[in-house]
Amino acid sequence: MSLSKTLIPLSALIGLFFFTSCKRDKDQTALEYMPNMYRSPSYETYDPNPVFADGLSAQLPPVGSVPRGYVPYEYPNSQAGYDSALAYLRSPMRFEETDRETLMAESKELYTIFCSHCHGDKGDGNGILAQREKFLGIPSYGRDRLPNITEGSIYHVITYGKNLMGSHASQLTEEERWKIVNHVLYLRNEISPDPNAKAGEMNQTEA
Ligand code: HEC
Repeated sequence: MSLSKTLIPLSALIGLFFFTSCKRDKDQTALEYMPNMYRSPSYETYDPNPVFADGLSAQLPPVGSVPRGYVPYEYPNSQAGYDSALAYLRSPMRFEETDRETLMAESKELYTIFCSHCHGDKGDGNGILAQREKFLGIPSYGRDRLPNITEGSIYHVITYGKNLMGSHASQLTEEERWKIVNHVLYLRNEISPDPNAKAGEMNQTEA
């Protein structure tokens, strides 16, 4: 069989395939092979949608929905919110169940990454940025300087920030924040021991 005898029917066949899938009317589809591959049978995010009253496919979550894994924080970013957190907020974490040494090591590591450059490794307010006078007024965690802070107020300040100190909410999960609180309390007791509390003890209430 010569080459042209094979090629002619073959190209006719290929031509047929292409011509059946074309149509003069550009607004109408002709034959579609496997249409679901390029036309999704489900509604796309921004498709109009006859099912919902507002005609949109992308619906807002119902009021009061909580994203998976997100822990709501009900204390507002205000002086009243700070006062309430100081008085009532206590750690929901059950750290006792975990190995104490691991907890202390993790708390210290997180603190070193996120807080040391301002507050100093010892929590004396003398981090590298304080030494270089990039930030002023960074307090020591000692009882003489901050007599009233509690685990709740520390968590609150990490979450929202305070004056020159920025919020760390976007960088730290709730659990990481509570771990850092643990290390701040530990440093606080190193600077100014509280005879009524064990070093680094969570859930301690202060007078
Ligand atoms: C950019 C520097 C900076 C960083 C980083 C920083 N702080 Fe602060 N922090 C400050 C300053 C400044 C203040 C004083 C705020 C004020 O009272 O005006 C402060 C205040 C505080 C206070 C006392 C708040 C109160 O109740 O009066 C605590 C507790 C605290 N920081 C904890 C932390 C922890 C924990 C971290 C790490 C997650 C951290 N800070 C990171 C600068 C910083």
